[in-house]
Amino acid sequence: MRVLVTGGAGFIGSHIVRSLAEAGHEPVVLDALLPSAHATAPEPPAAEFLRGDVRDAASVRAALRGVDAVCHQAAMVGLGKDFADAPAYVGCNDLGTAVLLAGTAEAGVRRLVLAGSMVVYGEGRYACPRHALVRPGPRLPEDLSAGRFEPHCPACGAELAPGLVGEDAPADPRNVYATTKLAQEHLAASWARSTGGTAVSLRYHNVYGPGMPRDTPYAGVASLFRSALARGEAPRVFEDGGQRRDFVHVRDVAAANVLTLEAAGALPPGALTAYNTGSGDPHTVGEMATALARAHGGPLPVTTGEFRLGDVRHITADSSRLRRDLGWRPETGFAEGMAEFARAGQRASATPGG
Ligand SMILES: NC(=O)c1ccc[n+]([C@@H]2O[C@H](COP(=O)([O-])OP(=O)(O)OC[C@H]3O[C@@H](n4cnc5c(N)ncnc54)[C@H](O)[C@@H]3O)[C@@H](O)[C@H]2O)c1
Ligand SMILES: [Zn+2]
Repeated sequence: MRVLVTGGAGFIGSHIVRSLAEAGHEPVVLDALLPSAHATAPEPPAAEFLRGDVRDAASVRAALRGVDAVCHQAAMVGLGKDFADAPAYVGCNDLGTAVLLAGTAEAGVRRLVLAGSMVVYGEGRYACPRHALVRPGPRLPEDLSAGRFEPHCPACGAELAPGLVGEDAPADPRNVYATTKLAQEHLAASWARSTGGTAVSLRYHNVYGPGMPRDTPYAGVASLFRSALARGEAPRVFEDGGQRRDFVHVRDVAAANVLTLEAAGALPPGALTAYNTGSGDPHTVGEMATALARAHGGPLPVTTGEFRLGDVRHITADSSRLRRDLGWRPETGFAEGMAEFARAGQRASATPGG
């Protein structure tokens, strides 16, 4: 299969390009090499490469020549600096997706895999002993300042137990980036309905591993901790370190993309199917910091009680649908993956927030 990988020079995209080539496919990369994602000249992708923007119809048309499937990874990631960044996010992520999909429709390509995100779910899913499943709203600044990090039941105030979020959970995007990731899915669903194509959104959880961009707030906490360790400093863990996340290795995410691209022909046409893409083995941010610090040989993390408004407390996926439908099996476990990452290189990035 000849596969167009947009954003194929980025962190996840470059692993997908490598995995596609290893599986005997022919990847072609379209990437604008955004300065926010690439400070220094990136390594040339191990594939045919076109430098261009997904918002540019002519670049998209050229990149789609002879292509059988599209794997759409290009996006602006991160929380941005402030709301003034909203037009740039919406431009790259949503206008870009619309231009790409229009080109895909015109070129007769009917297979699309989208880099989705767990950010579409907001604060995840919780069980109250009296009210069963509840969805708490954003945490209040006064609670966070007082060290009350756990969300409480919106009906009775009881303590809640975090649960696993399934694909059918209602969307609740809480920032501009999350909103653009949700809109990408809606655009892809519309594309599928009007072309009869097959669209899949792989809703990645916290992806980490070699090549991860350095010091960008979104690209992750694992990367910030890794950078601190490299400077000989202790990783600074916010809140009380008890935030639960699903850290999934980038090679497993790349494998999920290859598998989905190959299987897309057997998935329902004319619709978008969403798959949570997580390891299924949630850990706290504190555990992750400790694992990295130990593998690096110290210093051990400190828990600071600081917080970021808008962060969610726990968000962990139920990724069993992807395992059941497509036979995906993540291969890099938490301990092994973190030990490797503690030693592996990160990628330089120009501006934090990119
Ligand atoms: N890293 C994670 O944990 C994570 C989690 C959930 C979803 N995602 C999604 O995965 C995808 C890849 O993210 P990543 O972490 O590899 O980020 P990244 O910044 O390393 O890669 C994104 C790439 O897209 C390119 N790009 C951005 N806008 C473009 C445009 N308009 N035209 C052409 N190229 C453009 C950038 O130059 C970059 O090379 C994104 O869609 C992101 O939303 C990532
Ligand atoms: Zn309750």
